[in-house]
Amino acid sequence: MAPAPAYVKILLAVGQIVLALFYGTLGTVFTLLHLVRSGREKFFRRVERPKPPQVALDPIYGEHKMLKLKSSNVTLHYVSKGTSDQPLMLFVHGFPECWYAWRYQMKYFSKNYRVVAIDQRGYGLSSKPSSIGDYKVELLARDVADVVEQLVSGYQSCVLVGHDWGAIVSWTVAMLYPAVVDKLIILNVPHPAAYQANLSFAQLRKSWYIFFYQTPFIPELFFQANDMNIFNGVFYTKPMGLINKGNINSEDLEVFKYTFAQKGTPRAAINYYRALFRNQKAELSKPVTMPVLIIWGCEDGALGEELADGSVKYCSDVQLKKIRNASHWVQQDEPDEVNRYMEAFLNEKSTSK
Ligand SMILES: *[C@@H]1O[C@H](CO)[C@@H](O)[C@H](O)[C@H]1NC(C)=O
Ligand SMILES: *[C@@H]1O[C@H](CO)[C@@H](O)[C@H](O)[C@H]1NC(C)=O
Ligand SMILES: *[C@@H]1O[C@H](CO)[C@@H](O)[C@H](O)[C@H]1NC(C)=O
Repeated sequence: MAPAPAYVKILLAVGQIVLALFYGTLGTVFTLLHLVRSGREKFFRRVERPKPPQVALDPIYGEHKMLKLKSSNVTLHYVSKGTSDQPLMLFVHGFPECWYAWRYQMKYFSKNYRVVAIDQRGYGLSSKPSSIGDYKVELLARDVADVVEQLVSGYQSCVLVGHDWGAIVSWTVAMLYPAVVDKLIILNVPHPAAYQANLSFAQLRKSWYIFFYQTPFIPELFFQANDMNIFNGVFYTKPMGLINKGNINSEDLEVFKYTFAQKGTPRAAINYYRALFRNQKAELSKPVTMPVLIIWGCEDGALGEELADGSVKYCSDVQLKKIRNASHWVQQDEPDEVNRYMEAFLNEKSTSK
């Protein structure tokens, strides 16, 4: 495809700013209405969460540790089970989640793998650098590459598994640091080039919140309103909610709320979207060379399944498995099916190595 002429790029940039202003205003009005309707007391209600919920400390998931990264002034919290002689399976979570989004996979794969799930920078107990630029996707990808290089000595690669924002980061790791990724598993996020190529009006409308998040301060307020009531919309209500709602029960939900109750996490997590908007990089549309498995829950309220189809052509060795009756939160919504697809893919003889 020929590169877009300069005027198209300028029009696109202007269009984005217009959309950010439009949805920023709309979101702000909506937040104010929410404040008026629920009343100040309810809107500003905060619940203290000084300790992680008991379910997060279950030894079935392994141990909680901290890792100081070598390439930055960042320390990540992670949960790990297994030993260094087992192959590493590294999980990268999305928004608004944390390591615990992988609990079903950690339980299942810890028999054969050293399973490690990180809290990305900004989340929970991990470091929260203060500027928007600290959340550029290249830096998030470098964090993941550091984790692999620091946890695995000798042959330094892993099975990398990413969902939502973790999938954006994982695609980027695969492009920038292919040596650390043996096999790549992506859940419900297109290859960045496929997102751009498939950008339609309908898709932009589904992605409205990305434009709202460009507004300073208000999105954080909205997120925290009424003890983070937004989670009910995100996990339990159409169009985003789980099909199998019981798979994130009230105790599980507390783990996500605990993460976002850490000072600075809502801002840091929203800064991911702000940094993405400001630094779109053309080189992040390279083809991906290691074996890739894309798993896609088709009842995703934010991302259409044509984006999954569109991702295939950016990978040289790829399988796409669609799960019809599953939401965006696919690895929690249909854990058994996701685990089966992952296991089958991992048991195949790799063709490219
Ligand atoms: C590194 O991080 C620590 C803790 O977050 C902070 O106190 C310190 O100022 C940072 N140093 C640099 C060089 O950014
Ligand atoms: C999205 O990508 C698919 C596969 O490449 C293509 O068939 C479809 O027409 C694209 N849709 C849009 C809206 O660009
Ligand atoms: C999807 O799954 C839910 C819950 O398991 C079930 O009630 C519903 O009938 C399913 N829908 C379809 C279209 O299969």
